Amino acid sequence: MDDKKTGIKQNLTNYGDLGFSTFLRKSFIKGLGYSDEMLDKPIVGIINTFSDYNSCHGNVPDLIQSVRAGILAKGAIPLEFPTISVHEAFSYPTSMYLRNLMAMDTEEMIRAQPMDSCVLIGGCDKTVPAQLMGALSVDMPVIQLVTGPMLTGSHRGERVGACTDCRRLWAKFRADEIDEAEINEANNQLVPTVGTCGVMGTASTMAMIAETLGMMPPDSSCAPAVSSERRRISEKTGQIAVDIAIHKRRPSSILTAKSFENALMVLLAIGGSTNALIHLAAIAGRMGIKLDMESFDALSRTIPVIVDLKPSGEGYMEDLYKAGGLPRILLELKDKLHLDVYTVTGKTLGQTIEETEFSWQQTIVKSAADPIYREGGMAVLKGNLAPNTAIIKQSAASDSLLTHSGRAVVFDGLEDLANRIDSEELDVYKEDILVLRYIGPKGAPGMPEAGLIPIPKKLARQGVKDMVRISDGRMSGTASGTIILHVCPEAADGGPLALVQTGDKISLDVNTRSLHLHVEDSELASRRETLDLSRFIAKRGYHKLYMEHVLQADEGVDFDFLV
Ligand code: FES
Repeated sequence: MDDKKTGIKQNLTNYGDLGFSTFLRKSFIKGLGYSDEMLDKPIVGIINTFSDYNSCHGNVPDLIQSVRAGILAKGAIPLEFPTISVHEAFSYPTSMYLRNLMAMDTEEMIRAQPMDSCVLIGGCDKTVPAQLMGALSVDMPVIQLVTGPMLTGSHRGERVGACTDCRRLWAKFRADEIDEAEINEANNQLVPTVGTCGVMGTASTMAMIAETLGMMPPDSSCAPAVSSERRRISEKTGQIAVDIAIHKRRPSSILTAKSFENALMVLLAIGGSTNALIHLAAIAGRMGIKLDMESFDALSRTIPVIVDLKPSGEGYMEDLYKAGGLPRILLELKDKLHLDVYTVTGKTLGQTIEETEFSWQQTIVKSAADPIYREGGMAVLKGNLAPNTAIIKQSAASDSLLTHSGRAVVFDGLEDLANRIDSEELDVYKEDILVLRYIGPKGAPGMPEAGLIPIPKKLARQGVKDMVRISDGRMSGTASGTIILHVCPEAADGGPLALVQTGDKISLDVNTRSLHLHVEDSELASRRETLDLSRFIAKRGYHKLYMEHVLQADEGVDFDFLV
């Protein structure tokens, strides 16, 4: 970015004659009807991630109208431009595989085009992390706007919403508890409006984390996608975007290690998505800050889950919005947070919290003295099966399985899982531990959200609802169960997970944070001699770039050359 020039005159296309470059640029933008007077004003870019493939961003055109109004009211020019848009259910092989591509697109288009600040409009799981990763690398003034959560639907009198209820109802269908007619009927109600998943999944978690980091307007993460408040937040975002352009308020003047520690505390307190840990590591990495998993685990022993939302609790995002949203949570955590960190408004977090006041009672945000879960939502595990850590969302796990030993039943990738999991011949009992490998960053590739290994059909029919399940993959933030994820290093990178055999004994103890494979080192060394990982070498294109440069989950699954 050219710091000395502003507005239309910065980042000129190079023809070897700067005067001609400016002249040509003005000629073309005047084709859109702008006057010289308008073109002298600061420019605020607006990233448009609308796509017919992305219902989570279905309200983006409306939000852009309000952002434009806010920018124009403050005397700057709004210039909208597209980047790629990534939706969870429309991304092959996975959305995580494409997150870094979207981050690169965001970074390079902000760098390439003339603007004094930029509004990042995202929402669906990978889009907010991708936008923050890319924009932070440019370090130009940016502000995040999220599309906001969808409303809930109603299925046969029961309140439902994506995607915790998608998974719960599908599990009931697999267990023959509901029939095909009912599952098809429910399909119409799970996503009743545009917007992001209406529970504390990854999208909601990342929105609240972006607000905690100070990269969004205060109280802007929870308003529903289709509410008038979402439009007012958009207008306000446009106004702040002009302010950060004038004051050159860059991410490097806002984000510090303390900001990220605050984000980790909020992640724990809201019972947020395990995916957020990966994204936060990647976002912090772009600022040269390394997230320390052991410190995170220490925090997790002191920060209780205080938000009663699915999948850890009962409510939906619209309930949290009505209860006071993130400001109410920040007020509850005030004594633990670093209050001297700055936000996009130019105020500190402490000043922002001081301005909040709640005069009404509610039941969604609890107090630390009466939490939903006594410890933080997540625990970091370590052991000879996960030398570089693994994660468990203990708040969404079964208490009875948090200390458990069992026999491993191993699946080699998603195809093997699909072929055998429902077979009547599968040798599996409810005390066993299901292991799914080769679904890590390089494995599938792109770390699919397949860590919620389905309960084998023959056990589901017997009423088994949960088992210990281990993988090097991820899990949707909307899912629940005793699921160990992000095993590092992954199997496709030669991690010990690749050496487990069906019948081996594995022990999990969340209290001591240990994950242990009871096999002698000499036996593991001999198994390693026959390990062949040559199928994980890509030949061309983005796939090759990805496979050669992607980092492991504990480092954010970013590319090594972008950190
Ligand atoms: Fe987009 Fe859940 S699928 S937020």
